[in-house]
Amino acid sequence: MAFETLIVERPTTAPGVALIRLNRPEALNALNSVLLTELGQALAQAQGDDTVGCIVLTGSPKAFAAGADIKEMSDKSYADMFKADFFTAQARAIETVRKPIIAAVSGYALGGGCELAMMCDFILAADTAKFGQPEINLGVAPGIGGTQRLTRLVGKSKAMDMILTGRMMDAEEAERAGLVSRIFPADQLVDEAVKVAGKIASQSPLATAMNKELVNAAYETTLTTGVALERRLFHSLFAFDDQKEGMAAFVEKRKPAFKGS
Ligand code: HXC
Repeated sequence: MAFETLIVERPTTAPGVALIRLNRPEALNALNSVLLTELGQALAQAQGDDTVGCIVLTGSPKAFAAGADIKEMSDKSYADMFKADFFTAQARAIETVRKPIIAAVSGYALGGGCELAMMCDFILAADTAKFGQPEINLGVAPGIGGTQRLTRLVGKSKAMDMILTGRMMDAEEAERAGLVSRIFPADQLVDEAVKVAGKIASQSPLATAMNKELVNAAYETTLTTGVALERRLFHSLFAFDDQKEGMAAFVEKRKPAFKGS
């Protein structure tokens, strides 16, 4: 599928990885309706393709994404936003992908850009990355999960500081705060993210999907319910050939060859 605002690649160095680049350089990858709709389509395509085990979402060296497209939103009325249920369907299309998505963030990840990165499963950052929720400067609020996900990731104090002042956080502060899992030099970020994704794609896709579901459940349930779900899914993994293969390979001191069955 050809896209107007995205470039989708299959890196030869990592079979099993789909690399999606946001591509609106003229607007620092600002998220407009076309881009978010296309992103949902590209993710659905990756989800439906058995040869894809992990997805990397990235932008350009200057910007992962500088936010939702302010020029698209500026003249909208409350009725317009409400009738369109602005970006709800597009966000759902990202939130419901069952394969892992790594955000590889270089440069600005602001507003909707920061929210998009947080919708991914984890964030790898370039040393040039800058995160922020500057919506307050526009007289609005984050609208695709920022107040909720940032607070869960970095805690109330830093989330309030970021959201009420609109200030940016650099990569080191973001890593210290728990927003980012690792930092790489900017010129190596995408290669390193593809390498990490390649490692994930080499695992059992069944176990990977269940592990993703379980970590996400930690945000939605009580500890008792989450641990009970974990135990059930852990037990259920013993129904798959991949569990037999993974454990046999360990005992036989060889690499496992997972089949996804
Ligand atoms: C539309 C944008 C944009 C955006 C940048 N551009 N961000 N267009 N929406 N969010 C455009 C600029 O208008 C400009 O176009 C071009 O990209 C380059 O940007 P500059 O500002 O010239 O670059 P620079 O001086 O380097 O500054 C970079 C920047 C700044 C600090 C990132 O662009 C900026 O502050 N952007 C807005 C960040 C923001 O407020 N994000 C939150 C948006 S609200 P021209 O045509 O002039 O060259 C949001 C709500 C989410 O995200 C909720 C959704 C439901």
